[in-house]
Amino acid sequence: MCGIVGVAGNKDAVNILINGLQKLEYRGYDSAGIYVSDKDGQDHLIKRTGAIANLKNAVGDDIRGTSGIGHTRWATHGGVTVENAHPHFSQDNRFYLVHNGVIENYEELKAKYLSDFTFTSQTDTEVVVQLVDYFATKENMNAKDAFLKTLSLLDSGSSYAFQLMDREEPDTIYVAKNKSPLLIGIGKDCNVVCSDSLAMLNVTHDFLELDDGDFVTVRPDSIEIQDKNGNLVENRKPFHVDIDASDTDKGTYPYYMLKEIDEQPNVMRKLSAEYLNADGIPEIEPELLKSIKQADRLYIVAAGTSYHAGLVGKNLFETMAQIPTEVHVASEFAYNMPLLSKNPFFIFLSQSGETADSREVLVNINKAGYKSLTITNVANSTLSRESNYTLLLHAGPEISVASTKAYTAQIAVEAILAKALGEADQIKEATEFNLKQQLGLVATGMQTIVDEKEVLNKLSKDYFVDANKAFYIGRGIDYFVSLESALKLKEISYIHAEGFASGELKHGTIALIENGTPVIGIITQSNTAGLTRSNLEETIARGSKAITIVTKSLSKDGDDIIVPDVNSMLTPLLSVIPAQLLAYYTSLNKGLDVDHPRNLAKSVTVQ
Ligand code: M6R
Repeated sequence: MCGIVGVAGNKDAVNILINGLQKLEYRGYDSAGIYVSDKDGQDHLIKRTGAIANLKNAVGDDIRGTSGIGHTRWATHGGVTVENAHPHFSQDNRFYLVHNGVIENYEELKAKYLSDFTFTSQTDTEVVVQLVDYFATKENMNAKDAFLKTLSLLDSGSSYAFQLMDREEPDTIYVAKNKSPLLIGIGKDCNVVCSDSLAMLNVTHDFLELDDGDFVTVRPDSIEIQDKNGNLVENRKPFHVDIDASDTDKGTYPYYMLKEIDEQPNVMRKLSAEYLNADGIPEIEPELLKSIKQADRLYIVAAGTSYHAGLVGKNLFETMAQIPTEVHVASEFAYNMPLLSKNPFFIFLSQSGETADSREVLVNINKAGYKSLTITNVANSTLSRESNYTLLLHAGPEISVASTKAYTAQIAVEAILAKALGEADQIKEATEFNLKQQLGLVATGMQTIVDEKEVLNKLSKDYFVDANKAFYIGRGIDYFVSLESALKLKEISYIHAEGFASGELKHGTIALIENGTPVIGIITQSNTAGLTRSNLEETIARGSKAITIVTKSLSKDGDDIIVPDVNSMLTPLLSVIPAQLLAYYTSLNKGLDVDHPRNLAKSVTVQ
């Protein structure tokens, strides 16, 4: 969603801001802008709707500055217009502000304090910058005090990551954070601000994380953090981001999604190397295993693709660790919590580690004193910091909005954790499961599928590009993969796709089948293969174009996509790959922007 960048004290500030915004493009946005100033009193505000390229063109080569703030906006309050794009400014053009998040009481504040102020946008953010101006002019406060006073008036439910600049202090950025992610980067002779470290890896790899309620004064040679009680924070330790800036480049790939699909075999090998010792035994922090062992039930909480990975995980935890496991959609769980067991343990699955829906649950369960683990791709992300334990996905940056390698990495990490738990209790299903060998087979199997990706391109052209709906069906974990496969197809090809439990078709859904409707059956489990095939036949009898994704040992003449055999608990790691490729090619063949589907954002930081 919205992205933030800032730089204090670098003569290349304009390029740093524009490059940073380009690195944040993947998060999803509809307009962007920068404000820059220099010590000679020159300043510039440039905003554009659409791609960062539009902003870059408008900035041109002549604009210079040593400090500035930038923003990509994903519209919440007010339409997609230049006026609503950030930075917003006070009516006297003294203060400039960018904001991620939502201010809940902005209308009340506007009515109470700003009835005689001239507004240029419909945003909640503009109310904040005008309020800073109000306190600076009417109550004669300096910028910092006026900003702190304004923050004290914001409803506690509000979320924000703010950067404020004052024309009268051109090399200073005031920063405030509550609920929305924000980092301070420690540069050489300059300091930077960003909502995602990927934006600033060209400047620094060392960052300070901020806590809710922190207020920071960022200058070229100093960073001063005040906590929510106004106390100076002396010893906040920086963390190092071990990602090469080039890891976020597409290289020769046309789209990040294809690159990320192709990277999956290596991610499997990496996870095996990171977590399994030479004997194939998982090496997991003993405290984490102990904490989970004390639980009588696991609650996996996640959203979107991560939720689908959680559904697959249920089978792994219940089989190998023999711990009852429930899987919940975060946005539902937060406001409709089920009756919990006596000793619950929570597992948050999140590629970004920033999903607001999941965080809402985490905040609540932390208050209740329950323990939790976050499985995420992003070290030091909010969910990682705020839960008791973290396991990393080691998948490398995932840039495409459609999640692919994070899904398979999440399932692999769940398998590793489930095996570790089962090993600790000598559960046969875990001790006899050679996970190291299986992950090796998975990696090779994935490679075979991605090497033959043209088959999926052809299927896409023959049956999907002109379709207006499509269904994936399966039973058990094949059903869970059907949900994920349908999500991939709908989010980037805009074809109405759904995943169904194949046995449920006859209870209503089959009414949707028309002549030529593509129905893809996922068949990887021997106990349900025959049943899913029968259900597929029922759709063929009603005119569907049936396509099969089948494991080798269950395949028959006429099947379409055969994936290699692996242990039945891990088949989702292979059966999902053709579905990812089918979605990719369908989006590509329809001429759509594969990596930036309409209306979507990579990191969903609002509820
Ligand atoms: O970062 P998270 O894994 O928490 O994100 C959750 C969902 O927003 C995400 O998986 C979304 O569904 C993807 N666009 C799916 O491809």
